[in-house]
Amino acid sequence: MRKSLMAGNWKMHTTREDACRLAEEVMKHCPTFADREVLLAPPYTVIAAVAETVSGSDIIVSSQNVCWEEQGAFTGEISPVMVKDAGGSAAIIGHSERRQLFFETDTLINQRVKGALDFDLMALLCVGETLTERESGQMLNVLETQIRNGLAGVRAEQMARVVIAYEPVWAIGTGKTASKEQAQEAHAFIRELISKLFEKNVAEQMRILYGGSVKPTNVDELMAQPDIDGALVGGAALDAESFGRIINYQKN
Ligand code: PGA
Repeated sequence: MRKSLMAGNWKMHTTREDACRLAEEVMKHCPTFADREVLLAPPYTVIAAVAETVSGSDIIVSSQNVCWEEQGAFTGEISPVMVKDAGGSAAIIGHSERRQLFFETDTLINQRVKGALDFDLMALLCVGETLTERESGQMLNVLETQIRNGLAGVRAEQMARVVIAYEPVWAIGTGKTASKEQAQEAHAFIRELISKLFEKNVAEQMRILYGGSVKPTNVDELMAQPDIDGALVGGAALDAESFGRIINYQKN
């Protein structure tokens, strides 16, 4: 049984006061769950404040990116050691905004994934196709390339700390969610690919999250799909009521 993971990506939102308030409100929606985990990814400047706010709870705190080196001349980067020092234990890597707006390549993303894993962080690798790629029949190729390259050199025993987030670019922040069938198709493909690249049991244990306009109104049907193990939520994670409802999805 895979524990589901409900992740909130706050992107470039919240100052310290907003962040602490939001984290406190989210905590009210998190009883101790046996079957699911909750993760918050605030901006770097408030990782420590959020980690302190949620300390004593089971909430996982994550950064929104991470460098592969412990320290050094990498202006503008954050090291895995710094993430841990601030109270984080996970990193989102390869988000489509990083790929598209900041030109992060599969090679760079792969270095980040390996760096995160080498320093014992959970690595949430984001993959997803654009609308043009989907409409031209390239979706599966794009996913396969991003995953093969993103996970190159990762060892099977490290895969327990890898989570893949399937986020179709056309669904992020647009209000257009992939249908449950479209999401399930991509997730099943990803699981099959992981089983080819590693082993069947690695694929069966790995969590695959869906991201892209997840809302209280669509989370239940998405989470009812056999290969959807959680959600990576942007906009709706900035509102504690909405994210609370998402965390408390009902699988029926
Ligand atoms: P969204 O963002 O929920 O606002 O579509 C998801 C994401 O970018 O992770």
